[in-house]
Amino acid sequence: TVIHSLQRSLREWYQAQGRDLPWRSTTNPYHIWVSEVMLQQTQVSTVIPYYYRWLNQFPDIPTLAESSLDLILKLWEGLGYYARARNLHRAAQQVASEYQGIFPQELEKVLTLPGIGRTTAGGILSAAFNQPVSILDGNVKRVLARLVSLEQPPQKAIKQLWVISDTLLDKKHPREYNQGLMDLGATICTPSQPACLLCPWSEFCQALQYNLQTKIPMREPS
Ligand code: ADE
Repeated sequence: TVIHSLQRSLREWYQAQGRDLPWRSTTNPYHIWVSEVMLQQTQVSTVIPYYYRWLNQFPDIPTLAESSLDLILKLWEGLGYYARARNLHRAAQQVASEYQGIFPQELEKVLTLPGIGRTTAGGILSAAFNQPVSILDGNVKRVLARLVSLEQPPQKAIKQLWVISDTLLDKKHPREYNQGLMDLGATICTPSQPACLLCPWSEFCQALQYNLQTKIPMREPS
């Protein structure tokens, strides 16, 4: 089927062309959690040194839970959106008190932690435990909007995009699929001048077929 072809071509592309990133050589859910929160609003190259410094200072969840907010905010300085750091601290305290300091594996539990929404939960659970949980961040919205040649701004079609994301997710290889999808959006299916000639999904892409790849995703009228 087409879905199987999409899954296979993305996985083969990711295995050959995926980025080597520090949080991809671990399955430690705490490490992956920290990386996903930092990556919510900050680009990869900025995050990398902060990620290493954070894990040196706060090597595990109990250490983070016991640390002072002052020190935590100091380590965060320069990343911006400081609510993310406060939420990491509060969530670590919650994991310490409710789950003995062990990051939970159940999606419903993960979603109760401050600062973790559906996409961050999917990023963590798929990368740490290879669980089939889909994601939909800004990059993924753009990739999927182009794939199906979405006729409206992504914000107006969130439910539809989640259905597409759930449908395409490779339930046999969720870790590689989600990481590959994020890399596709970050390195190939970029906002302007996407590298469609290098894209593993080019033969399936409806936007490319109609030469609309720079018109989609549509922008909200301002
Ligand atoms: N952006 C959000 N999560 C990411 C990840 N795991 N790898 C690369 N970029 C990301």
